[in-house]
Amino acid sequence: MTPPQPPQAAATSAWADVPSTGAPRCDATTAWAGLQGHFQAHGRDFDLREAFARDSQRFAHFSLQSPEVFADLSKNRWDIATRRLLLDLARECQLPAQRDAMLAGAPINTSEGRAVLHTALRAPPGQGAHSDQVHAVLAAMLAYAEAVRASTITDVVNIGIGGSDLGPQMVVPALDAYASRRLRCHFVSNVDGHDITPVLRGLRPETTLFIIASKTFTTQETMANAAVARQWFVDQGGSDIGGHFVGATTNLAAAAQFGIRTTFGFWDWVGGRYSLWSAIGLPIAIAIGAEHFRALLAGAHAMDQHFASAPPESNLPMQLGLLDIWYRNFHGFGSRSVAPYHQGLRRLPAYLQQLEMESNGKCVDAQGQVLPFATSPVVWGEPGTNGQHAYFQMLHQGSDVVPVEFIAVRQPAHPHADLHRKALANCLAQSQALMLGKRAEEALAESAPTASASIDRLSLARQRSFPGNRPSTTLLLDSLSPRSLGALIALYEHRVYTSGALWGINSFDQWGVELGKALCGDLLPRLSSGDTTGLDGSTAGLIQRLLAASP
Ligand code: F6P
Repeated sequence: MTPPQPPQAAATSAWADVPSTGAPRCDATTAWAGLQGHFQAHGRDFDLREAFARDSQRFAHFSLQSPEVFADLSKNRWDIATRRLLLDLARECQLPAQRDAMLAGAPINTSEGRAVLHTALRAPPGQGAHSDQVHAVLAAMLAYAEAVRASTITDVVNIGIGGSDLGPQMVVPALDAYASRRLRCHFVSNVDGHDITPVLRGLRPETTLFIIASKTFTTQETMANAAVARQWFVDQGGSDIGGHFVGATTNLAAAAQFGIRTTFGFWDWVGGRYSLWSAIGLPIAIAIGAEHFRALLAGAHAMDQHFASAPPESNLPMQLGLLDIWYRNFHGFGSRSVAPYHQGLRRLPAYLQQLEMESNGKCVDAQGQVLPFATSPVVWGEPGTNGQHAYFQMLHQGSDVVPVEFIAVRQPAHPHADLHRKALANCLAQSQALMLGKRAEEALAESAPTASASIDRLSLARQRSFPGNRPSTTLLLDSLSPRSLGALIALYEHRVYTSGALWGINSFDQWGVELGKALCGDLLPRLSSGDTTGLDGSTAGLIQRLLAASP
């Protein structure tokens, strides 16, 4: 198959210098001190059950409708006064001005001297920054995706890692209801050969398309897997590398050097973990087609507009980001669990791990000052009912409080109404159980005389009690469509931005991944030579064991 040649994206010129907003960091504000006092007086002992008893309108007071996403924030440990103080914090930190600077293309990624303009990728023609370039590449990419869908290609293999993998890998199964039934999408990311080997097994070169997705086109894992795929292609008798390997990258020259003829470019102002809207979204476009890909972009754009224009008190990404700060910095909660009650969203927790932890996992602010407070929580999770039968025990009765984010979808994309009702009932029951708990006296009243002589009834009742008062948020979508998924992802992006901006950190670099990469470069040849000179004792010992002959 010979696909049409897309126009190449031009390199970005440096965006005009926009002066910094000079916004104070959260801990330099009077609202921060106010929140500390408020936490001591009301936050520490806040009880959700009492809060609902006091305010019959609590659900209405703490729920928000944003484009495509309804959020019930009422089962969180906050009240009107907490929210007012958090809004004061946002105001003092000039959150609206900081947001506007990002949306206007200011170089807010200061450590790399880059603008942060993933929102431009989903703006309608003529509306966002760099609109001509963005829409030229988008049109070419979507035309190419349609050509692939109409061709004899049956298998698409995306080779990429991190932001060049997790977005498409999350979105493709989420939108399975919209996907071509003729095409299979595979994702290879891990440099461990156990990833690519089973994917290649059973593929035929003439019906396979490889997408080499890498912003830099230098990432070790991706380049190594791409080389394996190219060798496999040749070994299997494939001859038209240029027709069966396509690139998604900002490094057009390196892609050409690899032997790729067709490359869809993007720009340095698109961060890897914010790139599924760009050429990195090619596997999505091939799976769901051009029209649905445009709907995904439109949903994200609708959320962008909400973030850009809704007042902070009804701005959902801002509210979630503020709540994250309340939990992390005042309650001291170290993690958040994500529980999607939709199997299609099974990769959402992994996607959010990169989005949130690579963005906000920083202990130094954008001015180089060591932060005296905590930043990104650990984000983790599994599809809801699977998690219930694994780690929800700990969420209900463990010694740590872990706020949970439930995601439910009103209309299923399958015909099994009974299964859907069960999934929804489980979702509601879990957030209810976390909040309500069960006192030991209630458990005692319910318990039958114990069969075992070694444990008395009161002790058993205590083990069967639930502390309750455990917070959760529930996000509701009407259906899991390209548009609603686009809005949901953009909601998460802006929420992460909100907490990062208040913490004063640069949410758009990732220097923390570099040291390991450099040390790997030093260790790789040692695994051939066995040279352990100058290494620490542990690493030297491990290399010696790895290279020792099998017993
Ligand atoms: O893990 C570090 C990182 O740079 C991510 O930020 C990025 O998404 C990933 O590697 C892949 O990078 P690339 O797209 O350049 O291959």
